[in-house]
Amino acid sequence: MTIIDENAYRKLTEADLENLIHPQHYSPDHQEPVIFDHGKGVWLTDVKGKSYIDGLSCLWNVAVGHGREELADAAADQIRKVAFTNNYTGYSNVPAIELAAKVISLTYENMGGVFFTNSGSESNEGAFKTARFYWNLKGKPEKTKLIARERAYHGGTLATSTMTGLPPFWKYFGPLVPNIVHTQAPENPEDSVGEPNSDGEYASWIEDSILREGPETVAAVICEPVKGAGGVWTPSESYFRDVREICDKYDVLLIADEVITGFGRTGKMFALERWNVQPDIVTIAKAITSGYIPMGAFIVSREIRDALKTVPADAKFMHAYTNSAHPTASAVGLRNLQIIEEEDLVANAQSMGDRFGAGLHSIFDDHPHVTNIRQLGLIAGFSTVAERDPDQGYDAGNAVGVKIQTHMREEGSVITRIVGDNVLFAPPLCVNAGEIDQMLDAVKAAVDSVTLT
Ligand SMILES: Cc1ncc(COP(=O)(O)O)c(C=O)c1O
Repeated sequence: MTIIDENAYRKLTEADLENLIHPQHYSPDHQEPVIFDHGKGVWLTDVKGKSYIDGLSCLWNVAVGHGREELADAAADQIRKVAFTNNYTGYSNVPAIELAAKVISLTYENMGGVFFTNSGSESNEGAFKTARFYWNLKGKPEKTKLIARERAYHGGTLATSTMTGLPPFWKYFGPLVPNIVHTQAPENPEDSVGEPNSDGEYASWIEDSILREGPETVAAVICEPVKGAGGVWTPSESYFRDVREICDKYDVLLIADEVITGFGRTGKMFALERWNVQPDIVTIAKAITSGYIPMGAFIVSREIRDALKTVPADAKFMHAYTNSAHPTASAVGLRNLQIIEEEDLVANAQSMGDRFGAGLHSIFDDHPHVTNIRQLGLIAGFSTVAERDPDQGYDAGNAVGVKIQTHMREEGSVITRIVGDNVLFAPPLCVNAGEIDQMLDAVKAAVDSVTLT
């Protein structure tokens, strides 16, 4: 543990500002950074010695919580044996072989093959390439388009930024990748069919998009079961059953981006289990190693795996990363999944998530400036609104979100995230009832401090 004085903190901050380009870089965000030093369970401590509940599992990824000695040992043991070996043509390693089998056993019943990556972005990019590859093998090379959704987040590569349905991620990076299109609300709202999701989106918009583009040109649809970075938007009860039906009707693959929801976040090991839906490809990252070491994967159905495994020499699957199936990452992944199972963290996500959701409802159901509370396991959010009682001088928009976030962090010792007017939560799956209640106290105080002045 290294706790430092103000002078040393200033020096670190200056060096950070000088040298480090952060994700979503904007220098004003980094003038007074929280610089983390260590963590244990759901708690993180910064270099000044202040501790916080990690209300977003850092970036939705630290599923088993911080400071797990078992994971340090798994990495150290593997590095001592051999840190890295080649997994290309004709080579393999034991932890990756074991992890692939483990991942298949935990995902949907129809899954058959795993390709390991280093991140969620690489997983989604690879899933898209694999969908195109598969349709070529099936003699339908014209099926090249990908349909993604508004408010979805799929990653930071050029193709996955294009899939992302959040326009700020596109600015100044264009031209974007062609043949990736987004769903749109129909001009006439009465043309929407089914039950809306918590962000007002309908499954029928996917069918509209497939028809607009021409089903014979569409390779796949990509969906996060719960849209995370776009603001935590949960689906309606029927949404994914309808999407599955639409994909089947038009011979389109369904890619489930479970980079956030995979491995228990929603109270099921994989989110679509809740609605008895099986995708054709699943993408994962984050919780597979709980962020202790970078790793991701895309997992394909047995049908796609069989197609990939029986190609002629001139149709070899030329998709590769140096670090694919990295032995040390695989060893950490195996040990991490063992913790998730042994500690029954998926059930804990369900029960602690329900406690958090019930708490949010009891605090905010009648609150003049909070609306649209959503929660599925340990992923939750709500929206703040000015319109419900403008006479109170409520300060609407992102400024409110920032104030809530800052109050929660400084006064309530809880770190969370905001997207516009939405306040988001996703604590580690090992969170306990006392910590959930502390988060609820912190969010109540923060919202009251902003809205009731
Ligand atoms: C749903 C989803 N997909 C993909 C990604 C991209 O993952 P990565 O940042 O590991 O590339 C993220 C990252 O937050 C995500 O939330």
